Amino acid sequence: MPAVPAPPGGPAGASLSGTLTRPSTPLPSPWRLCVAPMMDWTDRHCRFFHRLISRRVRLYTEMVTTGALLHGDVPRHLDFDHAEHPLALQLGGSEPADLAHCARLAERWGYDEVNLNCGCPSERVQRGAFGACLMAEPRLVADCVAAMREATALPVTVKHRIGIDREDSYAFVRDFVGTVAERGGCEVFIVHARNAWLRGLSPKQNREIPPLRHEVVHRLKRDFPSLTLVVNGGIAADDTIARELGHVDGVMVGRHAYHEPWAMASWDARFLGDSAPAPERDAVEQAMVAYFERLAAVGGSRLQASRHIMGLRNGQPGARRWRQVWSDPALRSEPPARVSERARAALQAAGQAMASEAAAGT
Ligand SMILES: Cc1cc2nc3c(=O)[nH]c(=O)nc-3n(C[C@H](O)[C@H](O)[C@H](O)COP(=O)(O)O)c2cc1C
Repeated sequence: MPAVPAPPGGPAGASLSGTLTRPSTPLPSPWRLCVAPMMDWTDRHCRFFHRLISRRVRLYTEMVTTGALLHGDVPRHLDFDHAEHPLALQLGGSEPADLAHCARLAERWGYDEVNLNCGCPSERVQRGAFGACLMAEPRLVADCVAAMREATALPVTVKHRIGIDREDSYAFVRDFVGTVAERGGCEVFIVHARNAWLRGLSPKQNREIPPLRHEVVHRLKRDFPSLTLVVNGGIAADDTIARELGHVDGVMVGRHAYHEPWAMASWDARFLGDSAPAPERDAVEQAMVAYFERLAAVGGSRLQASRHIMGLRNGQPGARRWRQVWSDPALRSEPPARVSERARAALQAAGQAMASEAAAGT
């Protein structure tokens, strides 16, 4: 299991005389590069896998509602592996007292941040009067943030959209951010740079159809230079991340990180100031095999966890055969080490066959 990563840029050191030495260059923002919260996807198994690929990227849980924590099985919702740090808990809710209680739990559990969801458009969430519909009530969001900040020393952040329904004036999102920052004391805003259409679109369509407008987030950063602004939505290439970092403090990547996890292997060195050697795919697979074995030993489901690693070999010849072996129902009861052995043999054989075909075709 990897060690708990040090803070980005390394800790400030202590000199022999005992006084703190200051790093000569400013530390990068802890929000410089984040993997988005994704319901059913970024569970603890997925986050453990992502952490093996990037030591530094900031990870987010799936949204956990205040109701689930007030009335449900708290350890089931909040437990995580300490290797996952830095890790934020995302909460869904709109009652300041409930959110304050959950923020306290987050701190007790050892999370690094509490994030409030003001961007989810699902009907279930709207019925609970939270998620994206909260953007219409900036004062309530400010009260929620203020109550959470009162309850915990952790950073309290907000993830939101740039508007709801057809409201696409800049003033709407500017006033939302202004109110939540001034009244609530929020200093970090993660902005999914498209509107949420609360009627007529499914959550999936709401991540695809309303147009992306990253420039709105850039403008927010210009208007609120002292706040941390993180842009999210449709970012799927390292060069785009680099370009966006020229405008804002951080970038959050969702679907691309999930489907193409190996993209994260270069992020520590390129964006997060960590020059340690990048991981190898074989080593990540071996670490996941050990993880699946530990999971099985405590009665967990290997399938629940192994579905997240399907993109590990993308880009390698034979990746499709490797995935087929890992998801073969006939191998469900095989020990994970055996499945991995077969998958890697299939990868190698398919890779060799492709290379010989290519050579024969030339
Ligand atoms: C399967 C799935 C589940 C999601 N669940 C959440 C969630 O629980 N909380 C949240 O704030 N956003 C959620 N999102 C939205 C993402 O965090 C992100 O804002 C969105 O996918 C846009 O970023 P991307 O284009 O990089 O994927 C989800 C997205 C997906 C694909």
